[in-house]
Amino acid sequence: MSKPRKSIHGEWSSRFTFILAATGSAIGLGNIWKFPYIAGENGGGAFVFVFLICVLVLGLPLIIAEVAIGRYGRQNPINSISNIVEENKSHPMWAVTGWLCLLSGFIIFSFYSVISGWVFSYGLQMGLGTFQNISPDDSIKIFNQFLSQPWTLLFWHSLFSLLTLLVVAKGVQTGIEKAVEILMPVLLILILTLLAYALSTGKFMEGLRFMFDFDFSKLTGESILIAMGQAFFTLSLASGAMMIYGSYLPRGISIPKACFMIAAADTAIAILAGLAIFPIVFAHGLEPASGPGLIFQTLPVAFGNMFGGQVFGALFFMLLLLAAFTSAISMIEATVAWLVENHDMTRNKASLLGGLGAWLLGLGTLLSFNLWSGKTLFGKNFFENIDYLVTNIMMPLGGILIALFASWVMSKHSILNELGIKEGPGFWVWRVSAGLIAPVLVLLVFFHSIEFF
Ligand code: TRP
Repeated sequence: MSKPRKSIHGEWSSRFTFILAATGSAIGLGNIWKFPYIAGENGGGAFVFVFLICVLVLGLPLIIAEVAIGRYGRQNPINSISNIVEENKSHPMWAVTGWLCLLSGFIIFSFYSVISGWVFSYGLQMGLGTFQNISPDDSIKIFNQFLSQPWTLLFWHSLFSLLTLLVVAKGVQTGIEKAVEILMPVLLILILTLLAYALSTGKFMEGLRFMFDFDFSKLTGESILIAMGQAFFTLSLASGAMMIYGSYLPRGISIPKACFMIAAADTAIAILAGLAIFPIVFAHGLEPASGPGLIFQTLPVAFGNMFGGQVFGALFFMLLLLAAFTSAISMIEATVAWLVENHDMTRNKASLLGGLGAWLLGLGTLLSFNLWSGKTLFGKNFFENIDYLVTNIMMPLGGILIALFASWVMSKHSILNELGIKEGPGFWVWRVSAGLIAPVLVLLVFFHSIEFF
């Protein structure tokens, strides 16, 4: 067999560091900002329950599949998949899967970095007291004014991209691993600190009820699709991240066990985030808004009018920033690895070039909020279009292909070997979930989200 047994980029030092890095990828804006809100809106505890099932039957089999493909291939997603295709003499069209994943990560990075730039700036402003005693109207004004300044946005977007690429350039062990070893414990401390603060608001029970009261009347077919989409997004699936991190995983480490821990930690943080945010929102008598409004309009008002809000507000934005940072690293890593492996570049040069490319693409997103806001195609601006393309089309398609690829195209012998299990009930549960249930569920989400029906 011609495939290398080790990645040329090195390996994780231990199972723990792999879990830290992959959990860092999974915990992102989706956990802290999206999950709590959609849970509250879609039936609280009933939704959380459906979401947990989705993580088990859809998320877990797929993350296992991605990590296994990565570790078997030992290279960037494009090469790993192509090598397996060649080995099994399967149809060359399967190679598209690798491209879809790599490009999705690259494109998400381009706009994640713009939005993380806002988080950066908001954290600083919160600490400096800009939001002290503001009214909801002031908050909307401040946000709109902020978005109307391309140069300010450019500064924060560039800073965030630069910091991410500096870590990536340093490599797997001295860059990514060192960063997550420091940042993930800080993230945990921050979320626990904010939880304690939320407990002190006296509105903790209200937050708890908003997120956990079982309300089956709010749980519609649509909520179930939202739960599936979230299970998929929150585990960073189909964007090259889990596959490339899998390619650095030493042999002998059980993939199913490690993936179970990643999914559990990711879910726990999403739930803790909700328990920290809602009491703060309710303490000021505010309504939890959805989307960017919750973070950039509602929360500044809540923090700005609470005792200690200046400090805890700044800590909250720091939490978001760390979550976004450890995700961003994993989004661009596959592209950098591809440049090194296929274009013979040093890691420094690959990071510079990959980062520059994504930074340039990010300018389209940045300008969508000001100079280009009127420029639309299909009724959407640049940012809305690429977001739609990646999250609603490329990622679901990539997810379906990965699931089918790992379960039916890769030889049974290779996948059993990667999963470290014998052919028995456990293997068949995985194979039926990944090869049958997950593709059907992702297909449902796909048709739902492409506005056909
Ligand atoms: N999991 C991230 C979150 O919950 C979002 C995400 C989607 C992501 N795809 C990714 C992060 C790829 C890193 C890499 O916010």
